[in-house]
Amino acid sequence: MCGIVGYIGNKGATHILIKSLKRLEYRGYDSSGIAILNKKLKIVKAKGKIINLEEKLKKENLNGNLGIAHTRWATHGEPSDINSHPHTSNNGLFTIVHNGILENYKEIKNNLQKEGYNFLSDTDTEVISNFIEYQYEKTKDLLESISKFLKEGKGSFSLGILFENENTIYTVKKQSPLVIGIGTNENFISSDISATLEYTKNYYILEEEEIGIVKKDNIQIFDKNKNEIKKDIYVVDFDVSAAEKNGFDHFMLKEIYEQPTAIRNTINPRVINDEIDLKIDIDAKEINKIHVVACGSAAHAGIVFKNIVESLARIPTEVYLASEFRYQNPILEENDLILVISQSGETADTLAALRHGKTNGVKTLSIVNVLGSSIARESDLNLFTWAGPEIAVATTKAYSAQISLLYLLGIKFAFQRKKITKETEKLLVGEILTIPEKIENILKISENQIKELSKKYKNNKSIFFIGRGLDYAAVLEGSLKLKEISYIHSEAYAAGELKHGTISLIEDRTLVISCITQKHIFEKTMSNLQEVKARGAESIIITNEEAYIKEINVDVDKSNLLIIPKINDYFTPSLTAIYMQLFSYYISRELGSDIDMPRNLAKSVTVE
Ligand code: F6R
Repeated sequence: MCGIVGYIGNKGATHILIKSLKRLEYRGYDSSGIAILNKKLKIVKAKGKIINLEEKLKKENLNGNLGIAHTRWATHGEPSDINSHPHTSNNGLFTIVHNGILENYKEIKNNLQKEGYNFLSDTDTEVISNFIEYQYEKTKDLLESISKFLKEGKGSFSLGILFENENTIYTVKKQSPLVIGIGTNENFISSDISATLEYTKNYYILEEEEIGIVKKDNIQIFDKNKNEIKKDIYVVDFDVSAAEKNGFDHFMLKEIYEQPTAIRNTINPRVINDEIDLKIDIDAKEINKIHVVACGSAAHAGIVFKNIVESLARIPTEVYLASEFRYQNPILEENDLILVISQSGETADTLAALRHGKTNGVKTLSIVNVLGSSIARESDLNLFTWAGPEIAVATTKAYSAQISLLYLLGIKFAFQRKKITKETEKLLVGEILTIPEKIENILKISENQIKELSKKYKNNKSIFFIGRGLDYAAVLEGSLKLKEISYIHSEAYAAGELKHGTISLIEDRTLVISCITQKHIFEKTMSNLQEVKARGAESIIITNEEAYIKEINVDVDKSNLLIIPKINDYFTPSLTAIYMQLFSYYISRELGSDIDMPRNLAKSVTVE
């Protein structure tokens, strides 16, 4: 959360920083700010989105070739101009932008107050700028002062630091991500590569507790003990257009439409003659138990995986919310596998869970979208989803790519454990290969119907989703998608569980969206649907053609039936998801909510 950028070169820094900052707005948008150093330092800050900062900048003369900027997801202190970054130290020597949380800020603040330091804001960041200034006043050695902070500061902090006497950006990475973009006679710092991709494809990716000294024509990197480090340049192979809307009204809609391509990119390189080649050294015969750790939608992808891997490979699998994992003292044994799922590869809870597993000597395998991310770097083994940059806060294509890759992993494990034959593997893989085309078909035929349904149900105060087995895994994701962007209250329930309490919330015209695709439990879910309809619920049914034609005899308007193309039951979550994503998108559009940047959220959750 929070995005930081910095520029040093020959060009106007303000324009470049604002443009780059906008590409980081997905990381937080409670407030933003910019500092330009041109002999004297000038700072402009604004509450709310970057557009407010741009408005303020029209009235300011902010010229210079060196600066840092920040977009905030508030942690310490309410969103306000005063709490917005950058924050300057008491004597004005240091100005800082910060992504992360300084956990021992109170203790450091108390010590600094005793030394006479005053604090204007409620932030932990102002504590950092003053700490570095205090150390610098004592030592007159800036690298030493930063290194001291790295040793004493607890928590997560990537920093961009301006020193009033120097044309340099100092930068630090601890837990939160930070990259240095390498240009010609200009260099950049940013929280992620997509921010500055327009200007350079060459990057240094800072590792834990590294310090960068970035000048216009020189970059040096040090460890926390001030030893200089030589790093490889990471060259990005995707284009800036991947991070633009390309004519779509929202990134979310663009990313929904990109799903067929994203899934092809994920699966095609891993399927050779209908056989799976994941190119990782892992043998499921040696795995006793799988612990999946992830948050939000990635955890929902994990539940899809649990269904498949337990059913096909018969490996006991538990799915943990990463924020709970460490604190429930999980039983981890030598031959277990920790499977980490994360789009960003930076989610603090997921990263902490991965580290917990490693400390306990358990092998870790990560499913990650962002190359070079912390989770990817720290995991023993990686499978990248290759879905391309995902900008909308609500995930769509990354989730779809995750479940596609997890299907392959589950099948591979089943074959390794001799639970399925080569022929079954080929048959299942053949089905997976049809997913992108089937999604294309849904996208072609469904938009108008979904738009109508969105209009019809936009005023519902509460929308329920029900399903069993893999359909339950799918509706958990459908319900999250709906509530996070439309702000309509929604719950997903295992269809059979409703009658144990929640059914009391069903009243006349409550909308219940039922996912009913699994043949072996089809009739059971149908009965649960009848139960809610008997209590006055309205119903949208997402089902498969075959089942629909044979089985559905409930009284439901045809326009409320969403039919997925025929596919093996294991893979229906890939198709039902599309309807639920579109429904969430269009209902939010009807309600006028900020779809790509829903309130209170951020794309990359780098705080615990
Ligand atoms: C919901 C959503 C979140 C993320 C979660 C984990 O649409 O995007 O629930 O899935 O914050 O993020 P990653 O996958 O980056 O670890």
